[in-house]
Amino acid sequence: MSNTLLAPKVKQSTKKPRIPVQKKPGTLHHMKRLSYGTKNTGNKIIQGDNLAILEALELQVQGQVRCVYIDPPYNNKDRYTHYDDKLCHVEWLEALEKCATSLRRTLREDGSMWVSIDDNEMHYLKVVLDKVFGRENFVSTIVWQQRTTRENRKILSNDHEYILVYAKNYSEFKKTRNLLPMGEEVISRYKNPDNDPRGPWQSVSANVQAGHAVPSQFYEIVAPNGKKHSPPKGRCWAYSKDKMNKEIAIGNIWFGKEGNGVPRLKKFLSESKRGVTPKTLWTADEVSTNDLAKKHIMKLLPDHQLFDTPKPEPLLHRIIEIASDPGDLILDAYLGSGTTAAVAHKMARQYIGIEVGDHAASHCTARLKKVIEGDCYGLADRLQWKGGGGFDFFMHKQTAIRPS
Ligand SMILES: C[S@@+](CC[C@H](N)C(=O)[O-])C[C@H]1O[C@@H](n2cnc3c(N)ncnc32)[C@H](O)[C@@H]1O
Repeated sequence: MSNTLLAPKVKQSTKKPRIPVQKKPGTLHHMKRLSYGTKNTGNKIIQGDNLAILEALELQVQGQVRCVYIDPPYNNKDRYTHYDDKLCHVEWLEALEKCATSLRRTLREDGSMWVSIDDNEMHYLKVVLDKVFGRENFVSTIVWQQRTTRENRKILSNDHEYILVYAKNYSEFKKTRNLLPMGEEVISRYKNPDNDPRGPWQSVSANVQAGHAVPSQFYEIVAPNGKKHSPPKGRCWAYSKDKMNKEIAIGNIWFGKEGNGVPRLKKFLSESKRGVTPKTLWTADEVSTNDLAKKHIMKLLPDHQLFDTPKPEPLLHRIIEIASDPGDLILDAYLGSGTTAAVAHKMARQYIGIEVGDHAASHCTARLKKVIEGDCYGLADRLQWKGGGGFDFFMHKQTAIRPS
């Protein structure tokens, strides 16, 4: 069985070959004409079947990739302008399993793989990826609000997709994954009602669940005005009595404007600069939608036939921000219109993008040229992107060995 997820458009011959043909991993041919910008950046767009290319690249990329993102055809029986999405379920799942197995080998110990998928095959794919990565390395399922309009032709208007996240090694990924910068909404929660010279702060509960408490966490807090406070039923104080008294003395405990309120801990904005833990619900407001991604591509490549299923740049920006740092290698084995490469480029990551269709040459290269020339759509404003860099284009050619 071929790995390609594209249902072939050409009629297959029914004649069996007389001599069995074995395929070599094949070789990559540098296409100068399709490469652009600064030379030897390490950024690669490769046209060909992903499994064969991963095999050909194996030694170069094994254990090198910090973040893999894939957005394979979802097997939803649709026919798109640039590819078909109609395989039998078993064939589709087998192809994904082979590809994921190969991609896992490319990951660094602290690397992660992010997989876009919808309702149709999500649960079957989850079981297969659990097998490939080990259930202990499953990180989470992200729910992405991919549309804001209502789909009235369906029984239920399906407005979300999933992103399955796996780590090569859960504990290594946990140590190095990035937090997200605090948004305006989070920052606005910090106020300074007591004019604290240390700046804005927000208060959080000073009591915690008593389940794992030690005896030193059960006591009465005496507020500066003499009022006594006991923890609510089933709860205890977050700190021991000694530590709590020290925190009260240095003004880190808030008893309300009048001093009679339930004690709360002051958390200062200046100490929270590390960022926020990413959540698993990603709204259209935060990371955009499929429709907006299409509009972006239309504006960016007005002379090209529209690519039907691009992902929005802000979605890829968030994944790459959490999963990697500048200079890291990002890999997408179903590149489509080149979103992952375009975003990785603007975020100063290295990238390898693999795409079997001719849009690797037509759309991905045209899009990346615009990026290099300072593309002002997508994330350009957020990243203050001014252009620069380059990529090399390769064509994968597979050769057959005929046994004598
Ligand atoms: C859903 S699209 C990816 C869209 C992409 N995320 C974007 O933002 O434009 C899936 C892509 O996978 C490609 N594809 C399918 N099977 C492939 C294979 N075996 N090797 C490489 N690419 C493949 C298709 O041609 C299609 O462009």
